[in-house]
Amino acid sequence: MCGIVGYTGRREAPPILLEGLQRLVYRGYDSAGLAVSSNGTLAIRKMAGPVEDLSQDILQTPLRGVAGIGHTRWATHGAPTTLNAHPHTDCSGRIALVHNGIIENADRLRAELSASGHTFRTDTDTEVLAHLIEDAPGECLEDRVRAVIGRVKGSYGIAVVGTAEPGKIVAVRQGSPVLLGLSEGGTFVASDAAAVRSHTDEVVYLLDGDLAVITADGYQIRRGNGTIPLRRPTRVAWSADAVELAGFERYMLKEIFEQPDAIRRTIASWSARNESEDALAQCNLTPLECRTFERIQIVACGTSWHAGLIGRYILEEMTGIPVQVEYASEYRYKCQLPLPGTLTLAISQSGETADTLEALRRAQSEGSHVLGIVNTVGSTIARESDGVMYLAAGPEIGVASTKAFTSQLVALLLLGLTFGEARGALAPPRARELEGELRKLPELVRRSLEVDREIKELAKIVSNPRGFLYLGRGVSFPVALEGALKLKEVSYLHAEGYPAAEMKHGPIALVDDDTPVVFVAPRDGLYRKVLANIQEVKARGGRIIAICAEEDEEEMELARLADHRVHVPCPSDPLLTPVTTVVPLQLLAYHVAMLRGCNVDRPRNLAKSVTVE
Ligand code: F6R
Repeated sequence: MCGIVGYTGRREAPPILLEGLQRLVYRGYDSAGLAVSSNGTLAIRKMAGPVEDLSQDILQTPLRGVAGIGHTRWATHGAPTTLNAHPHTDCSGRIALVHNGIIENADRLRAELSASGHTFRTDTDTEVLAHLIEDAPGECLEDRVRAVIGRVKGSYGIAVVGTAEPGKIVAVRQGSPVLLGLSEGGTFVASDAAAVRSHTDEVVYLLDGDLAVITADGYQIRRGNGTIPLRRPTRVAWSADAVELAGFERYMLKEIFEQPDAIRRTIASWSARNESEDALAQCNLTPLECRTFERIQIVACGTSWHAGLIGRYILEEMTGIPVQVEYASEYRYKCQLPLPGTLTLAISQSGETADTLEALRRAQSEGSHVLGIVNTVGSTIARESDGVMYLAAGPEIGVASTKAFTSQLVALLLLGLTFGEARGALAPPRARELEGELRKLPELVRRSLEVDREIKELAKIVSNPRGFLYLGRGVSFPVALEGALKLKEVSYLHAEGYPAAEMKHGPIALVDDDTPVVFVAPRDGLYRKVLANIQEVKARGGRIIAICAEEDEEEMELARLADHRVHVPCPSDPLLTPVTTVVPLQLLAYHVAMLRGCNVDRPRNLAKSVTVE
């Protein structure tokens, strides 16, 4: 949720830390700060507001030092003020730390520490850690940090520096992601690879319970009372350019336009495993196991949950296996019967969403095989799943998920195809036909992007309404949900997604000429039914935007009813249509938000990776 970066080496730390924070702002951006070790003291600079403000401040009054830690915050405990910004220090100012996660027993620890004479200056849970380390026994920083870990409950990733050992950073991972970056010029710690990628492509992921001691020359990892052998570094597959804007005005727009490539790569990485057996082996499954599953359940949050809803249509039709889709945050606490014969799919772009991770753990504890469908290589969900199907969407920086969503849909289609064939649920000719359709998707999405200008014009007409309704039926219903979510996130306009026929049971009351109604209406088996729903809205004076198939240019009835028609090329199999029909909805959200002056890459109150419950 928050972003952490640290560096110790032979170069000046502040510019490296500030650059790292810039790369991490999508994790949280309400305040930022640095602590730099210099000449036996810790210089701390922090402030509410964007990282750019902190950079300006440091430009005017430079900080110097070759080791330090930085943080960009998404507030949980305490308002997003300068005081509450990280790093936090102990009473003496000799310990500084940054933290991502939540300390669940912070109130009790704070009361104990206050009673024993510690002075707290902030409202954060993090500050208790600094005071605990101040009191902890131990010869060196790592011993003192180790002593504190036993007293703290919750999930956290932390990085700590102290005046007594200036070139050293101690990092701990317990529930929140932390990795180390290795390079000739020094050693890094970060909450994700984006922060360090411009310096190195070699990273070591910490596991829960790891305590790492980082110096300019490398690192050691301690578990329990001992030091463990060095772990083999993982190579980051994407280049530093992947996190640049590359000429686009915003990451969200860049990522919308990257969808053809993201989809192409996702198909290629699955098809590289020529035989479906190889593909299943990647999921840690055998064809026999795949034939014996009786049920599939999907757990996910937000946009990934919408992909799961579409996945239900795909998988039920292609594999004949009943599928249920759960919000991970609800599933983890619900009364649940044991799950023999159930395959669980945990869908997550970041691979770090706390609720999805806990849902995965719960499903495993109930005997389910968990397959992660994940974008971020080496992430916790990827590592803890029994098998993993990686998307190849590349790093997604814009807070609103776009290219990961369409890549998730493609992954679900590939999975449906593989399972359908292995189970004999898809006749070979139908399987080949679907495969051919799948391979056309990158080109169809590329052509769908051609509506960008048209949507930009449309956005001018609808950028200031009371709210939006998004309606669809069948596989287009979750597309409507996704369109509404995208708009809400980035434009702060209210939008509601609903099954088109269900709107008669309530939301139709919202229809007036100031509430645009977006219908997702590809040419599928429900098309004529959707036309009837469009009639119902039209009869009540609604302004209708129809997302329809290119082939429907001549469709007279729709032309008569809709105020605006946006045509996209639709695959001939209806199961694949969400991959193209969602594109104009992403663009609509983007352009409406831009016209309203919103910060689309950093919408208020949101963070990219939700690593707290
Ligand atoms: C919406 C969005 C969020 C995420 C959700 C799950 O645009 O980005 O709704 O989809 O927080 O995140 P992941 O997929 O990383 O588990």
